[in-house]
Amino acid sequence: MSTHGRWTLTRYLIEERRRFPQSSGELNALILDVSLACKAIARIVAYGKLDDAVGLPQPPQSAGAINVQGEEQKPLDVLSNELFMRMNEWNGHLAGMASEEMEAPFQIPESYPRGKYLLVFDPLDGSSNIDVNVSVGSIFSILRAPDDVIASGRDVTEADFLQPGREQVAAGYAIYGPSTQLVLTVGNGVAVFTLHPTLGEFILVADKVRVPEDTKEFAINTSNSRFWEAPIKRYVDECLAGKTGPRGKDFNMRWIASMVAEAHRILMRGGVFMYPRDTKDPSKPGRLRLLYEANPVGMIMEQAGGRASTGRQPILGVMPTSLHQRIGLVFGSKNEVERIERYHAEPAPSVAPAPLFSERSLFRA
Ligand code: AHG
Ligand code: MN
Ligand code: MN
Repeated sequence: MSTHGRWTLTRYLIEERRRFPQSSGELNALILDVSLACKAIARIVAYGKLDDAVGLPQPPQSAGAINVQGEEQKPLDVLSNELFMRMNEWNGHLAGMASEEMEAPFQIPESYPRGKYLLVFDPLDGSSNIDVNVSVGSIFSILRAPDDVIASGRDVTEADFLQPGREQVAAGYAIYGPSTQLVLTVGNGVAVFTLHPTLGEFILVADKVRVPEDTKEFAINTSNSRFWEAPIKRYVDECLAGKTGPRGKDFNMRWIASMVAEAHRILMRGGVFMYPRDTKDPSKPGRLRLLYEANPVGMIMEQAGGRASTGRQPILGVMPTSLHQRIGLVFGSKNEVERIERYHAEPAPSVAPAPLFSERSLFRA
């Protein structure tokens, strides 16, 4: 690909900042440091098991531990988390960080200045796919720290991070697939950048991306179907019924088990993703985490004209109650997400068949 005349991520950020002559450039600097962490993770993911041969940092041997989610940490989960922290702790733009891989908020060390933003991230999403060479990614959300944190420079607490997704200043993800891409919103639409492998720069390849409003593609882990609530069962049944069902068209299904990869497919060509609240484990109202999975993807979707919801309310309106809170998540093509919300709001349709055609009907043997 020729880069002649194309914008780098740096140029995109500078052009965006020109819309706000008052701004200091701190947000831009922070995003560039986040993007550097993503480049470093992209390298490590790409080298796979060759990491020892090329002098890249070794994944800590202690991995295999269980994180705060009760999930096994892969060595690359731990290493990616390290990279996010080391690339961002020093720059003076952050008041604190929080991550899927750390139970408590991370305090900016005393040797560095503290700033006005909070960075929240899932350093490696879909990490169960690492060993089988399927796309994975990193997800991040940038919030403004509460005023008293900025004024005092005090340590951050969990409560400082509990802000609804609407408050996000910027959000994005990196996807480590056949090419590495960075998808970003600073509140003015969604831009997609591809990492130029030899320049080492993220190059703008699409701006003001729009999620198609309609789709024939849905994504859900159907092995959980017996735990789904009625509105989700109804929606999926109607998709499966295809042309001859109430939807009058055939649907396709996808499930990668890397939310970043599903979000990216949906951003580029439409679709609907569901990891809804279910009854599988009453202690977990959903699988995905609100602050560093649902909210950033929710902001990307809304900024691209799509929609993100719990099924009952917009994701970005949910007031978080804890750092690692899980939530039911539905996102993607606007008309499909709205339909799913409607199914949640409507009383369940009666499924009892008309008496004439029931088992003991006159017309049955
Ligand atoms: P993580 O690797 O950060 O724990 O997230 C994995 C998530 C998400 O990416 C994916 O959509 C989902 O888990 C897959 O869940 P199932 O294993 O239930 O399919
Ligand atoms: Mn994840
Ligand atoms: Mn993760």
